[in-house]
Amino acid sequence: MRSGLSVVSGRMVPMTTTSAVLADASAYADAVATATKAAAAYYAGGDSALDDDSYDRLVRAIEAYEKEHPDEVLADSPTGKVAGGAAVGDVPHSVPMLSLDNVFSAEQFAAWAAGVERRIGREITAWSVEPKLDGLAIAARYVKGRLTRIITRGDGTAGEDVSHGIDSIEGLPAELAEPYTLEIRGEVLMTTRQFEAANEARTAHGGEPFANARSAAAGSLRAKDRAYKVRMLFFGYGAIPAEHTAEELAERLRTRPHGELMTLVGALGVHTADATEVPNRVVATIDEVQERIAEIGALRAELPFGIDGIVVKADLATDQQDAGFGTRAPRWAIAYKLPAVEKITKLVGVEWNVGRTGVIAPRAELEPVEIDGSTVTYATLHNPADIARRDLRIGDQVMVYKAGDIIPRIEAPVAHLRTGDEQPIVFPEVCPQCGSGIDTSEQRWRCERGRNCHLVASLSYAAGRDQLDIEGLGASRVVQLVDAGLVADLADLFTLTREQLLALDRMGPTSTDNLLAAIERAKAQPLSRVLCALGVRGTGRSMSRRIARHFATMDAIRAADAEAVQEVEGIGPEKSPVIVAELAELAPVIDKLAAAGVNMTEPGATGPAPKGEAEEADERPAGPLDGMTVVVTGAMTGALADLSRNQMNELVERAGGKSSSSVSKRTSMVVAGEGAGSKRTKAEDLGVRLVTPDEFAELLGDLLA
Ligand code: IVH
Repeated sequence: MRSGLSVVSGRMVPMTTTSAVLADASAYADAVATATKAAAAYYAGGDSALDDDSYDRLVRAIEAYEKEHPDEVLADSPTGKVAGGAAVGDVPHSVPMLSLDNVFSAEQFAAWAAGVERRIGREITAWSVEPKLDGLAIAARYVKGRLTRIITRGDGTAGEDVSHGIDSIEGLPAELAEPYTLEIRGEVLMTTRQFEAANEARTAHGGEPFANARSAAAGSLRAKDRAYKVRMLFFGYGAIPAEHTAEELAERLRTRPHGELMTLVGALGVHTADATEVPNRVVATIDEVQERIAEIGALRAELPFGIDGIVVKADLATDQQDAGFGTRAPRWAIAYKLPAVEKITKLVGVEWNVGRTGVIAPRAELEPVEIDGSTVTYATLHNPADIARRDLRIGDQVMVYKAGDIIPRIEAPVAHLRTGDEQPIVFPEVCPQCGSGIDTSEQRWRCERGRNCHLVASLSYAAGRDQLDIEGLGASRVVQLVDAGLVADLADLFTLTREQLLALDRMGPTSTDNLLAAIERAKAQPLSRVLCALGVRGTGRSMSRRIARHFATMDAIRAADAEAVQEVEGIGPEKSPVIVAELAELAPVIDKLAAAGVNMTEPGATGPAPKGEAEEADERPAGPLDGMTVVVTGAMTGALADLSRNQMNELVERAGGKSSSSVSKRTSMVVAGEGAGSKRTKAEDLGVRLVTPDEFAELLGDLLA
């Protein structure tokens, strides 16, 4: 916890929950000043020194202090003000653009809902549940179907005209499907992709990168006359009558339920959450609301745009009218905040690790920071070009993102926090593993010795359970073999002799015989696993299976040119030449493997048809999963209990199906074992067929034997 609390230099005591305590009037005044500055930056273009979480805590501490000391409340306190009192603008809003109150737990939500029901004197039987988009609010005015003006929220009563940015906003059509006059309200944000492209363009033009998608959207929306274009995305979440709206339409906008209005807004051509993986859902009970909140929360990490919570609204116009508005927020809607997934911390160093194929991958070392319940110390960095492009420096404060079980990533440096002491990231000049030269001709740098550089890593991987499955050949045994000069490549494993093994430390006759037997068994592994064990760059387990099934024999794979390799699903023009080159590089090892008696065919695969016979070739025996895409999740039980995820995927493919790791509309079936989490939820959500491990085993029948 560095940013927010350290600003008030030790006088704010962090508590274990989400808030903190301000000790005296001077700490309170400091906190107000810090929060006001941060809010101004946040709404103006994101140059805030606080991440959202730190800001929220600060404001909560201010609120707590003001509750205890109502006489001391400062006029510029951000509490109770839309946008923390920060924003400016001179275009009046016809209807105030309000904020939302927050809850942080199921209990708080239930209490809030009960409060609204008490206020209106009846039960609410329709709730609208939708994502809380992490961007900035705008009002889009349409006259006779044409987009005439867009205005920021400002202080809620008047905002800034940002119509100059109309062209860069997707999802907000210049012309509606109907010639309606109305105002559409919603959020402008940058998707992860748009954000990355924006920062790339910005740094290429000598600018400093934006720290995150939200500040990039805020800054870009207000900017004029930029030399480069950035894209943003609009999400509509409300529609209200404007001046000159026809009475019939105005009546509809005032009386239709929120969910229906969203359908109307979508039908007019405006982008809404309904077009995403997390559409608006109308449900009847508080329990169902909670379920939907959990579902959206579970999908958060995979969404291509940021959400910071879930908005729950009374769906019916009558309920909304009876609940009414407070000064800052409507009483019929609430934001259920999700834990922060973004924090600012310091980039203390970059490690360069050499992988089993000789690729030299940078990894960011961070000052440990707690994000979403776990401590983050490392984050991925893709490659040297990516580091340079993003202008990262050692000592930078960086915005780190981590959600769900995804690997943490650095979004960008928080450039305005630079002190001048930051140091450039030094790229290695020789391979950090073996000291050889580095091949920098591709984006991902590689040791010139390629897979021979980190032989121990590459052989340990090859011997692993999902590849050749050689029991007794763990990393320490591999180190011994390599150090003794007994193996210099994968194929050497298959010509090891009993005498050679017996001569090693800690190798008695029993372990020697066991290891030799395991190596012998490995010779019979299917081609897909042999291929995977070779460590062809750009191919992992599932790609190796696809290649092996497509070509059926190693000879056919080696005979294929880049064009032929592209016939394998998932291999595009970028990957195919790499695979061809890798196989050429591996030719001597493959020859040695074949000579040692290692299997080079894929059981059950027939190989591609000769040209002109493509149609007949499709007469493979039909499997029970033909044409289906199957996702396996959770722990397997019963007949499938011992199978690894990889073995399950192999099984799916042997049965004619396609295995996949993520659930989408295209998924045909999800095998959900014990403890299945977000993938099961998503399947339910999308109406994808769910089966238990037992049902799945039955479906496969003979194939399991
Ligand atoms: S409804 C009168 N719906 O969150 C109703 N707001 O923290 C006001 N926001 O000011 C807004 N997603 O900028 C609504 N689905 C959603 C939203 C949403 C994001 C923003 C909006 C609002 C802020 C409050």
